[in-house]
Amino acid sequence: MSNHKNPVIAPSLLGADFSNLKKEINFCNNSNAKWLHLDIMDQQFVPNLSFGPSVVKDLRKHSDLFFDVHLMVSNPFDMLLPFIKAGANGISFHIEATESRFTFPPKILINTIKKNNLKCGLALKPKTPFSIIKKYLEHIDYIVVMSVEPGFGGQSFIPSTLDKISEIDNYLNQNNIRENILIQVDGGIKLENYKSVIESGADILVAGSQVFQSENPIETINQMYSK
Ligand code: DX5
Ligand code: ZN
Repeated sequence: MSNHKNPVIAPSLLGADFSNLKKEINFCNNSNAKWLHLDIMDQQFVPNLSFGPSVVKDLRKHSDLFFDVHLMVSNPFDMLLPFIKAGANGISFHIEATESRFTFPPKILINTIKKNNLKCGLALKPKTPFSIIKKYLEHIDYIVVMSVEPGFGGQSFIPSTLDKISEIDNYLNQNNIRENILIQVDGGIKLENYKSVIESGADILVAGSQVFQSENPIETINQMYSK
């Protein structure tokens, strides 16, 4: 049976009030969220800058949630150890950031993450086809399907993502590896569309602005668990 019958909501801290992170993380701790999504941006791979390992290290003291670090950086290899030391439980990196001959190949990054006993995710920009990561599937734990162009919170969900999620879900089922890999969907997830994202096959739904800009973030997270 596929995992998407019991989806997980992962609030994205990028949508939070950065002047009050302790309060914001407590909303997540006191909700049904299981993962906390942490977006790392270097202003090169994406045109925005977020936060670094020292922030993650300090947050670690205030939460037992699964810390899911999403690296949107052009040199993900160099960022692995700092985030592992800071207390990440899972790290995803973009396949597009490993295509240059000057970067380490994906397998080296996957091995580094796995040998430190973290979960490993491979992230795809909206226009990147699923097919290019097929050869890594046996080594990873989750796929991050971007449903907006990476870089900013608060964008609109790209509708064609639903077909991509179904394509991945079908492929994993047909190859009998559905149990081994989670499908995470990141960007533009709202109360209006979360059900269709789950129905298409998603296991982990990342939600930033919808959660943190709502009146009651705890209730908003919990609402996304209702069928
Ligand atoms: C975008 C980030 C997302 C972002 C989602 O580059 O990867 O995780 O925080 O934010 P919303 O839910 O507002 O689209
Ligand atoms: Zn993200």
